[in-house]
Amino acid sequence: MTTVPRYAGDFADRYDDWFTPSTGSTKETVDLLARLARSAPPGPLLELGIGTGRVALPLAGRGHQVHGIDAAPTMVDQLRAKPGGDELTISFGDFSEVDHDGEFAMVYVANGTFFELPTQQAQLRCFARAAQRLLPGGLFVLDGHLPEVLAAHSGGGAQSVASANGDPMLRTRRLQPASQRYTSDYLVLDEGIFRHVQVVFRYAAPGELDLMAAAAGLRLRERFGGWSGAPFDDSSRWHISVYELPA
Ligand SMILES: C[S@@+](CC[C@H](N)C(=O)[O-])C[C@H]1O[C@@H](n2cnc3c(N)ncnc32)[C@H](O)[C@@H]1O
Repeated sequence: MTTVPRYAGDFADRYDDWFTPSTGSTKETVDLLARLARSAPPGPLLELGIGTGRVALPLAGRGHQVHGIDAAPTMVDQLRAKPGGDELTISFGDFSEVDHDGEFAMVYVANGTFFELPTQQAQLRCFARAAQRLLPGGLFVLDGHLPEVLAAHSGGGAQSVASANGDPMLRTRRLQPASQRYTSDYLVLDEGIFRHVQVVFRYAAPGELDLMAAAAGLRLRERFGGWSGAPFDDSSRWHISVYELPA
């Protein structure tokens, strides 16, 4: 059975209010994905962990046919309630299986969601299944934080972080290097009541992701330092990796 993360099950109606995108703004994300889609073969797009449609709906609004997978009906209910939300084809289940009919020009996963897959096996499976769903020349795109940067910004107590709607929010981040995991705990002051939201991630460095891609028959086409399209260099805090299925 697919596990629904607690933030998605219990706080789906607050996701857009509270959680700001961590690897680039929504506009930057949509702009870069649209640019990448133009460089891929013609065909539909598939978002893994489509959530409330933050990225998928604006992409669909630009004329792309966007499909999605998510484990949480509560998140998809939010998407469906938005303009255009009833036009997307969405499957429910574990996105590491990429169990969705069709072949895609681009499969993508945004906002650190790939690292919500809890094990290396699940992440490897996701690469392999995504590759099987791609048209020749198709792209698999994901973002992620860099482990060194996570390490530098973990521990040290609670930090005040910005929420999208201004609700006061504190975050602690604990790194568990032996298992390549980190746990983010959020305390959000919601109309006078503190809510606790925990998200657990299994991180991987770009080199490990490249090996997973190679095992799936994909090759790295390019890597950006953010959804802005900035170059990936020593100052980057995260990366956008673009893998290609050779035509
Ligand atoms: C952080 S949200 C991101 C949503 C959207 N991609 C965005 O950028 O706003 C991650 C989404 O992935 C879903 N999710 C996490 N792990 C999943 C899994 N293994 N299978 C399916 N969905 C999953 C959650 O339910 C949630 O809707």
